[in-house]
Amino acid sequence: MLLEIKNLNVSYKTVNGISNVLNNFELSMDTGDIISIVGESGSGKSTLGGAITKLLPPSAIETGSVIVDGKDIVPMSESEITNMRGTTIFMIFQNPLNSLNPVKTVGYQLMEAARVRNDRSNENLDEEAMERLVIDTLRAMRLPDPEKIMKRYPHELSGGQVQRIVISMALILRPKLLIADEPTTALDVTIQAQVINLLKELNRDYKMSIIFITHDLSLAYSISNRIMVMYAGRIMELNDSEEIIKNPKHPYTIALLLSVPTKYKTETKLYYISGSPPSFFNLPAGCKFNPRCEKAFDKCREMEPDLIVSKGNSRIRCWLYE
Ligand SMILES: Nc1ncnc2c1ncn2[C@@H]1O[C@H](COP(=O)(O)OP(=O)(O)O)[C@@H](O)[C@H]1O
Ligand SMILES: [Mg+2]
Repeated sequence: MLLEIKNLNVSYKTVNGISNVLNNFELSMDTGDIISIVGESGSGKSTLGGAITKLLPPSAIETGSVIVDGKDIVPMSESEITNMRGTTIFMIFQNPLNSLNPVKTVGYQLMEAARVRNDRSNENLDEEAMERLVIDTLRAMRLPDPEKIMKRYPHELSGGQVQRIVISMALILRPKLLIADEPTTALDVTIQAQVINLLKELNRDYKMSIIFITHDLSLAYSISNRIMVMYAGRIMELNDSEEIIKNPKHPYTIALLLSVPTKYKTETKLYYISGSPPSFFNLPAGCKFNPRCEKAFDKCREMEPDLIVSKGNSRIRCWLYE
């Protein structure tokens, strides 16, 4: 088991009071798994990513355990977690500038990553081999003129370039667990496909496990073997990707799927789920999705369903499948 989240609670202290985003959250992941976390904006995906990497903001209150590679990171000190950063866990943020140091050149930071990898592996790369590794990685990310880019500072590059630099850093570090929070949103479609392929290669060749956060179900399907659909901080449905796409069960999953444009249904009008996710300060009673659910009945408005484990890898939180 590479990741085991047990009884995780995350709340934020805000001027309006405390919002409880994750509640008794549980999730396990084996080495080599690629799991996508899918849900609309505000469903708690980045909060979960932050909890797994111990990168939550100071306003967050976190309890429970997040066991990564055998160690619980929740009680760890900054220096203990720093030892795990890079080669055990690495996070690609939605805003790539957050992953880079603004006052160091791109080349300095990528060489630093190569050094970290070299120190923690037995490859014994010399300076020249590390530089080759960096340049080859930048080239694989389709960044033109890598030598020139290495001399630049992050703010001198475009958003798409910075994101590709951060992904290059992940490719160089080859962490056991990579958490990628909407990593391809700023990239155009061809580069997005390239990034997905590189991540899949790392998964295949080095068993790198990946948590891929996205609001795009089709992108999730293209990369992961399992998909977790999240709403209002809850897992609503979790299953093998194939099953989620071909046999979705939760009304929220079905609604998300209907809103994905695909080449197979160009005739149909794109579907939008009406309304928006609830505020954590004002969650509805019962199932958190019930106000937007076409299938909701009385019980859904009164009691929140548990996450039910049914056959195989399937989990669902819905009274329709009690
Ligand atoms: N630093 C923060 N302080 C207070 N509330 C936060 C903070 N970060 C996120 N939240 C709240 O947590 C909820 C989930 O946000 P987030 O995890 O960013 O969701 P997602 O990544 O799915 O869009 C939102 O209601 C958001 O307002
Ligand atoms: Mg987010």
